[in-house]
Amino acid sequence: MTDSTNATRHVASPLARQTLLDRDLTSPVADIQPIRIVPWVQVVKIGGRSIMDRGSEAILPLVEELRALLPEHRLLILTGAGIRARHVYSVGLDLGLPVGSLAPLAASEAGQNGHILAALLAPEGVSYLEHATIASQLAIHLTAARAVVGSAFPPYHHHEFPISRIPAHRADTGAFLVADALGAAGLTIVEDVDGVYDSDPHAAGGATPRLIRDTSAADLATLVGTLPIDRTLLDVMPTARHLDRVQIVNGLVPGRLTAALRGEHVGTIIRTGAHSSGRREDDFDAEPTSAVAQRAGPLPAYRLTTPDT
Ligand SMILES: Nc1ncnc2c1ncn2[C@@H]1O[C@H](COP(=O)(O)OP(=O)(O)OP(=O)(O)O)[C@@H](O)[C@H]1O
Ligand SMILES: [Mg+2]
Repeated sequence: MTDSTNATRHVASPLARQTLLDRDLTSPVADIQPIRIVPWVQVVKIGGRSIMDRGSEAILPLVEELRALLPEHRLLILTGAGIRARHVYSVGLDLGLPVGSLAPLAASEAGQNGHILAALLAPEGVSYLEHATIASQLAIHLTAARAVVGSAFPPYHHHEFPISRIPAHRADTGAFLVADALGAAGLTIVEDVDGVYDSDPHAAGGATPRLIRDTSAADLATLVGTLPIDRTLLDVMPTARHLDRVQIVNGLVPGRLTAALRGEHVGTIIRTGAHSSGRREDDFDAEPTSAVAQRAGPLPAYRLTTPDT
């Protein structure tokens, strides 16, 4: 009988004997373009404070617009946290809670907004998905329905970086990270302003704010003052692998989101470090992002299946 217990088997892996810290050794293996997992999905981040907190006046027209977009796009709709998270921050900070405790509390508020939006779109087959389901079962859900809703907060939760007392990675950063990881066709951030201005357009006094129509994450990072997006979004954008831009649009103006998803420049475009699509501003208007979805093959007709029993 052959004794096989002493036979050594080597797992063929170019990374097996390395520390993963030597770029000369890792780059031949790691420096390849990742695949696009769901290239036909459009990610839309809905502002918590700017849209959801305004209630029916802002939400219902946007729900109508989203409903009308369903035959044209398959959507991952992600919601921000809004005013309730800000209240949680102030109570938690007053009590001395660490940032890793505040992050999941705020994330749950973003989830609540998602549940509200999903309930309003439920007649269209839309439902709320938890992070784990988005991570592993998004494709099947978007085959059964034209859109799903989730929380835009990244699930760092208790692992949130302690670089500030208020969680630094919030809804805009979370929406971007997941959209880039999925290789989505695009990310549109819906706010209550026409885009990013050189100063807060809702602040009293000062010079008349100027709308920045087109910029890069690196340039915007140099802007002193407030922004309608997380600062950490500008930190993660330069290392994007797929998304070469995001567009910030005014969700209070009917048609702006629709136009943005059709590839029109109707807000502020912020460019990332990614060049994977090879598309430039010149061809931004020429090819609607819905064309990306069409190239991905025929979309299954929207239907909900009911159990046979
Ligand atoms: N430079 C700027 N350009 C445009 N808006 C700005 C700027 N600085 C501040 N703002 C303000 O940001 C507001 C939007 O706030 P914020 O981004 O916190 O809301 P939100 O995105 O809905 O919130 P959440 O992150 O909870 O989803 C705008 O109404 C505007 O007044
Ligand atoms: Mg915002």
